[in-house]
Amino acid sequence: MPKQQLKKHMTENIVKKRAPRGKKEIITITGMRDILPQDQKYWNTVRGNVDKVAVDYGYGLIETPILEYAELFVKSTGKGTDVVDKEMFAFVDQGGDHIAARPEGTPSVVRAYIQHGMVNQPQPVKMYYSGQMFRHEKPQNGRYRQFYSAGFEAIGEDGPTLDAQMILMGYNIINDSGVDCVIQVNSIGCTVCREEYKKALVKYYKQHTKALCDNCLNRMIKNPMRLLDCKEPSCEAIKENAPQILDFLDDDCKKHFMKVLEYLDELNLPYTLNPRIVRGLDYYNRTVFEYISADDSESKLALGGGGRFDGLVEMMGGREKTPACGFGLGLDRIVAKIRESEVLMEDVYQPDVFLAQLGENAKKKALVLYEKLRKNFKMSQALYKDSLKAQLEHANKLKVKYTLILGQKEVSDGTIMLRDMNGAVQEVIDFNKIEGELAKRLEKYSGDEGVAVIDTEETKAAMSSKKKHDYGDRVTEETNDFQDFGGGASFGGDDAADTTVAGDY
Ligand code: HAM
Repeated sequence: MPKQQLKKHMTENIVKKRAPRGKKEIITITGMRDILPQDQKYWNTVRGNVDKVAVDYGYGLIETPILEYAELFVKSTGKGTDVVDKEMFAFVDQGGDHIAARPEGTPSVVRAYIQHGMVNQPQPVKMYYSGQMFRHEKPQNGRYRQFYSAGFEAIGEDGPTLDAQMILMGYNIINDSGVDCVIQVNSIGCTVCREEYKKALVKYYKQHTKALCDNCLNRMIKNPMRLLDCKEPSCEAIKENAPQILDFLDDDCKKHFMKVLEYLDELNLPYTLNPRIVRGLDYYNRTVFEYISADDSESKLALGGGGRFDGLVEMMGGREKTPACGFGLGLDRIVAKIRESEVLMEDVYQPDVFLAQLGENAKKKALVLYEKLRKNFKMSQALYKDSLKAQLEHANKLKVKYTLILGQKEVSDGTIMLRDMNGAVQEVIDFNKIEGELAKRLEKYSGDEGVAVIDTEETKAAMSSKKKHDYGDRVTEETNDFQDFGGGASFGGDDAADTTVAGDY
């Protein structure tokens, strides 16, 4: 598009029409979602397992741009695949370049391998990534237009041990996330075996053209391997009796595949042979595999998949004969499975200690104290709030183990109040000793699944000597309860908000 025309198009069609017609609010684009703070615990679980497996097997993180030249995917993922022909978010940018939001990660990793001369590093070069991918698919449960995928690629190795280890790594991530899955494996051979197979496949499908969907009629001409990918019921039935690629493998491919299976047996992995798996992307050869949820074996939605792509580096302009293998996982789908399992998970940030304050002087001191404490403890606060009641309610909701309370009286005495939220006891501590006291108490929690092992009887006894606590000009009897803490106690001080706690929370 010429530049002038492009500018006009941008102003008229993009800037002015920000939201779909008729909608007052701007909401997310169809097929795209927000992942909210309360859901991060599930995502962190999977991402944590991705990172762990990367460390365990020696993969380095690579971050590639979300936008690439569209040509990258046309050449690698393949013209003729649904991902490229129908689903790519592609556009012409202000400079007139044809750009695409990445639909998958493998092409970018291969581009980076070539662009940065990684061929000169010890092979295989092992990289992993995690991030958003974009495919303009029909949105439905488990199928989004922006989804998250984590992928592992090892470039520069053709041994079957790598294939088996790749399959194992993906399985480990899913399994460690608490999701049961089975692995489906196949070999689609090399280009030579596939030529023979394609001929046999087309010959077979020609006998069934009347029952085939339009897509399959097209695939017969353009990309016969994809006939096996069709999910239309009428085509599924035909697929059942189609020739199997395994019968067409040449000796080398057969040997390679037998070795992969031998290693999988050795590892005792739950796999089945599925001769219908061809994968929807163009670059695969030899081993291909998918992870399917164990409780969902009929599902058309794989949790992940991968395989060898021995010809891709060369095809993209890299060194001849650079074999490679990898896999990608659908994090949205794995997260959905974790949620279904209803396993209780700790929130992403579960603080141990809440710092509350009352009064201007206490607030200032608390601001500084917080900076000290946050370095060594899992802290929370609402120092912007003036009401003690509101702060204590916040602490309660967060289910912290301890709350520190700094009032005007404590500021002038050089103390701070420490409340054990579990044992419901509170003590007055020397302000300068609070870090040591907290460390001592929190240590008792560790290794006991968060259940306090503080001997409350003993603490209570110790507390009885301290129970009479002077809040400003009145002496109050503490009853180890928040209600009582505020009920009538008053904080001495020069600020109106400082003086009375009663009824404040
Ligand atoms: P893929 O099978 O196209 O492979 O995608 C990997 C995984 O991403 C899928 O198994 C699925 O779980 C998830 N996924 C795909 N599309 C969607 C979607 N629209 N919504 C939600 N999840 C989706 C690849 O992308 C290859 N690059 C994998 C690979 C790496 N092969 C070798 N190396």
